[in-house]
Amino acid sequence: MADKLIIFDTTLRDGEQSPGASMTRDEKLRIARQLERLKVDVIEAGFAASSNGDFECVQAIARAVKDSTICSLARANDRDIARAAEALKDANRGRIHLFIATSPLHMEKKLRMSPEQVLEQARLSTRFARNLAADIEFSAEDGYRSEIDFLARVCEAVINEGATTINIPDTVGYAIPELYGNFIKTLREKVPNSDKAIWSVHCHNDLGMAVANSLAGVQIGGARQVECTINGLGERAGNCSLEEVVMAVKTRKDYFNLQVDIATEHIVAASRMVSQTTGFVVQPNKAVVGANAFAHASGIHQDGVLKARDTYEIMRAEDVGWSANKIVLGKLSGRNAFKQRLQELGVQLDSEADVNAAFAKFKELADRKSEIFDEDILALVSDESLAHEKERYGFVSLAQHSETGERPQARIVFTVGGQEVQGQAQGNGPVDASFQAIESHVKSGAEMQLYSVNAISGSTDAQGEVTVRLQSNGRVVNGVGADPDIIVASAKAYLSALNKLHSKADKVAAQG
Ligand code: KIV
Ligand code: ZN
Repeated sequence: MADKLIIFDTTLRDGEQSPGASMTRDEKLRIARQLERLKVDVIEAGFAASSNGDFECVQAIARAVKDSTICSLARANDRDIARAAEALKDANRGRIHLFIATSPLHMEKKLRMSPEQVLEQARLSTRFARNLAADIEFSAEDGYRSEIDFLARVCEAVINEGATTINIPDTVGYAIPELYGNFIKTLREKVPNSDKAIWSVHCHNDLGMAVANSLAGVQIGGARQVECTINGLGERAGNCSLEEVVMAVKTRKDYFNLQVDIATEHIVAASRMVSQTTGFVVQPNKAVVGANAFAHASGIHQDGVLKARDTYEIMRAEDVGWSANKIVLGKLSGRNAFKQRLQELGVQLDSEADVNAAFAKFKELADRKSEIFDEDILALVSDESLAHEKERYGFVSLAQHSETGERPQARIVFTVGGQEVQGQAQGNGPVDASFQAIESHVKSGAEMQLYSVNAISGSTDAQGEVTVRLQSNGRVVNGVGADPDIIVASAKAYLSALNKLHSKADKVAAQG
């Protein structure tokens, strides 16, 4: 029988460390439910001790998601570990994931601890965690740049204390597949009790090799857990991408001979949900989930695919959730058809009131746009106005005027804490004028770091999806807005970013 490969998703923890990718509690819950639908084995829901907000997210996910193991990160100290255990109290299956750095550079420069002190701290904190939970993962941060004999002593010690999974991260994305695979293999050989734990890989993508390194860790090194994120989301160049690693192992079962339990038909919906929530657009040529991943432009390829699809296709688009018929609903579609489509897309709204609110928005959109695509529906349900948290700023209406040779003007009505206000301004273009109109009232002083527009479903009658990245007092947030009118979408995105700036609490970073 094939060994099982455990898929550990860290979109909500390591993925969220990407600048601007911070998510609200409701957004995280929605993504966690989608990960459960995907049948992810372990969901790292957050870093409970990093902030009260993160604690509440881990707790809410532990209460809502019952089929996957829910995990919280913790530094190797009693306070963090106790906080993680508390947040996971109501989980069906909870995992405490503690970590400490083991590379000479990190121990000396970051922790200012000697190797023996690190070893002792790893040992004691694993013991402490083991008294609070049965499922304990230990990570040696910057493990790949650690001295292998020292790392082996640490791993042996924490396994003796009851760690059930040992994770060896390539924290800075420095590894090369063959070298990383051999590193894991040699390390396991050096650890006398290595068979008492599951070995895990966690690779960052700084040199574009996170997926290749993870697969080498599995194939050469014998790891049986891969840590990854949807769309490869993560700090800097990101993490190992879940969809790529899963489809590689499934498509090349002849080579890997591993069992992966992921329900791959939910991959595209998960990818869209993460990209629409965080504002991190998926590049069109991204493997598996990019818009072009299954598009054949060249005549030779098209001809080949029409004659026999396996001439040029190694995976089936529908197996990862690309629907064959993308036009789904229109103006005449009723509430039941809408609800059914939500179910098919794997979207679970929290209450009938949410379904009603989403349906009202759908009707509004269908009045303006004749064909409603899956992407439109996903944008609509990720709209902040469906969120339960009370948002400070809400879009009401916008009027703008631009004409060649004249300076564009915008007048916007929006709510601040439930009260309607108006702002009016001129700008270099209509988008700039709308942002100035909002700022004429809010005066956030935030600096814009990124503005991008993306047509949700291809053609000019598509909804525009806008991402706005703002920075204020060292915090970076992304706001996303969608509307057939891109100036309105831009204003919504700006208000959404302001909401995030307003609500986002400072938290302790896991690395660095
Ligand atoms: O990259 C890393 O080292 C991590 C650990 C905290 C697990 O994310
Ligand atoms: Zn990481």
